[in-house]
Amino acid sequence: MSDTRNIAVFASGTGTTLQALIDNQTEYGYHVALVVANRTCTALERAQTAHIPTLQSCDWTKIGHALTQHSIQLIVLAGFLTIIPEWICHKWEKRIINIHPSLLPKHGGKGMYGVHVQEAVLAAGDTVAGCTVHYVSAEVDGGHIIAQATVEVLANDTPETLSQRVQQEEKKLLPQTIEQLLNNAK
Ligand code: GAR
Repeated sequence: MSDTRNIAVFASGTGTTLQALIDNQTEYGYHVALVVANRTCTALERAQTAHIPTLQSCDWTKIGHALTQHSIQLIVLAGFLTIIPEWICHKWEKRIINIHPSLLPKHGGKGMYGVHVQEAVLAAGDTVAGCTVHYVSAEVDGGHIIAQATVEVLANDTPETLSQRVQQEEKKLLPQTIEQLLNNAK
């Protein structure tokens, strides 16, 4: 692995996680060199505002070329709501990570994204919620867990209030984990 510390961020939505990754680049010593989106979304606009090259595509061969062209070391899924094809998971094994808004293996899998996850946390009566950074494998939310952060569930929490506090933790955990992974890869 070369030492560019270039990361690609894949996103599908609002892109607040992408924004936190952009804002923390200098502090954590990585470079957001490419943003990939599978559809038109605010995340793409955030990347363009920050003068980061973007690619809006669902063509994995094209995406693969862009990753090589930008010397990407690590792919970071930040609210990317498309299942990664198995061949990409294999080709990029241990070099694709995802942030998920629960303490996996709880509340993961197909259909579990965004605020739906916190709805499930509250319905289950969990007293602790949180987020997980994990390697991406062919199984949705099933890859090896790298890091987690916890958040206390409050008696008056709604899915939205809990989601907000979990997202605050995500925005700290993700840059920290990226820094560690890039350091370990040296
Ligand atoms: C984040 O909370 C992320 O954990 C979640 O989507 C949100 C993206 O927000 N990802 C999943 O639920 C994946 N299963 P953003 O678009 O504002 O960055």
